[in-house]
Amino acid sequence: MCGIFAVVNDKTNNAAQTVLTGLKKLEYRGYDSWGIAIKPTDATSLQVDKHIGKIGEAETVLPEGKIAIGHTRWATHGGVTNNNAHPHLDCTGKLAVIHNGIVENYLEFKEELLKKGHKFSSETDTEVIAHLVEEKIKKQNLARAIFETFNSLVGSNAIGVIDFVSETIVACRNGSPLVVGVDEKNQQYFLGSDVPAFLQYTNKVHFLDDGEGVVLSKNNVKLFDLKTGQEKELKLQQLDWKLEDAEKAGYPHFLLKEINEQKQTILKTSLINKKEIEKIAGMIKKDYKIILTGCGTASYCALAGKYFLADAKIESQAYGAYEFSPFTKFCDDKTIVLGISQSGETADTLIALRLAKKQGAHIVAVVNARGSTMERLADTVIPVGAGPEIAVVTTKAFTSQLTVLYLLSQAVKNNYEEGQKQVKKLSEILYQWFNTNLEEKIVNLAKSLLNQEHIYLIGKHLNYPATLEFALKLKEASYLHAEPFAAGELKHGVITLIQKGTPCFVLASNDDIKGEILSSAAELKARGGRIIGIAPFDSTEFDEIIKTPDLADLTIFANIIVGQLLGYYLGVGRGADPDKPRNLAKSVTVK
Ligand code: AGP
Repeated sequence: MCGIFAVVNDKTNNAAQTVLTGLKKLEYRGYDSWGIAIKPTDATSLQVDKHIGKIGEAETVLPEGKIAIGHTRWATHGGVTNNNAHPHLDCTGKLAVIHNGIVENYLEFKEELLKKGHKFSSETDTEVIAHLVEEKIKKQNLARAIFETFNSLVGSNAIGVIDFVSETIVACRNGSPLVVGVDEKNQQYFLGSDVPAFLQYTNKVHFLDDGEGVVLSKNNVKLFDLKTGQEKELKLQQLDWKLEDAEKAGYPHFLLKEINEQKQTILKTSLINKKEIEKIAGMIKKDYKIILTGCGTASYCALAGKYFLADAKIESQAYGAYEFSPFTKFCDDKTIVLGISQSGETADTLIALRLAKKQGAHIVAVVNARGSTMERLADTVIPVGAGPEIAVVTTKAFTSQLTVLYLLSQAVKNNYEEGQKQVKKLSEILYQWFNTNLEEKIVNLAKSLLNQEHIYLIGKHLNYPATLEFALKLKEASYLHAEPFAAGELKHGVITLIQKGTPCFVLASNDDIKGEILSSAAELKARGGRIIGIAPFDSTEFDEIIKTPDLADLTIFANIIVGQLLGYYLGVGRGADPDKPRNLAKSVTVK
């Protein structure tokens, strides 16, 4: 939540423009407001430009300069106003702060600072940081003043501070992501919440760990331990991400690009991590208890994993991470807790994993983003390798995570290679399927649903988590009320909602329970429901059908992709921004 970006020694001498371009790449982290602070080449104080709303095609009028910071906000403390937009200045106008996180003890600080005569211009928790540093800098050097301030903040936070006088940027991390990018050739340095923000300049990075701080000056980047203040060695790693990974590549939206990329990403995921997956499968076979957890889409992935594992005759538990805490007491050193996450920064998932770790559980991170907190916390990391996912609505990271869980279940059955073959087949068939008139059919379906208020969806067994995910895509991308149910739940109350013409999606596979799901479809049809089948077979119970490829257990991948595409086209048709749905942020780093 919230995106941080900064540049030092900008080679174009147009640091504000560089920051603006970077912020546009980070906008998926929050889009309530944005702002930039620069030290202009000839000026006596910092200059700040702030706006509410999305960056979109915005421009900045800030003057030239070589050093600037910027921020894109997902509001927590204080409404969406210009004053509450970051960066926040101290009273002297020589320091400006950007922040991702929540300062839980900010009110105590604010009271003290007000007594000392500091003037506040926002309602944010962030602004106290600027004034606290302003106080401390009277007695010590900048880095130490910032480190000390940061150490006194309660909560998960990442900050960046620009100092007019020393022309440096100091940043600190505890619980919220921060990464430094070093462009050695041009001697320019970057700071970002995520790599795509500066990928066009460099792929050499250092992911800050909790308790680390950096000082970026025009000559170098120095890394510090925040507690001791001691300098540490900056270890740069070169990522294999390419600029195209973070660009739209001709697609109108990242969401559509990422949906289409799944043909490749699923296959890519199946070709890595064999060693780790077989290690975990080996532990499961040695009677380790297995628990799968995550939030939102990742929790549906966990649930699908539970069905995959059941097929391998393994009993497992799946929890939404935000509901896991009462059950972590049942974890011990014979438990595997598998955390699923795109970002690796989701607060609720991290909290659950930490609790389980305390109980001695072996933590596995099935994660897409690189250098995340979850990766550091885990005993075994399974990086799913879907590449940067920019759209807030997750698609390719999810199907890659699902691929890992499918392969895990195959590994438990001593069937890993066969599982890989099935994923390869899935990928090939997806290529062909995308080349049919699939999108045209979905566009037409979307057009017929544009003005609906409610959509209901049913699925059974593996198609139940698929239905949950399908419905979430519709809700997120198009704001349409889409309510998913387990097919068996229908006659226990839900059926009251069905009236003549109510759109009802029925997700199914060509399996031995298809008769049961068709009976549920018939019950909906008998109440006047408009039955839309998402399945690899025709049925007289369906009024309409989007036919998916018949891929046994892997049919759910295709069924879910229909939901992703439908969500996308409904969103476009209903005037939503499919890449940046209202009120959402890509990584939910607060509880
Ligand atoms: C997905 O489309 C959602 N925006 C959301 O449910 C997401 O899956 C959830 O917040 C978990 O995020 P994570 O995968 O980064 O942990």
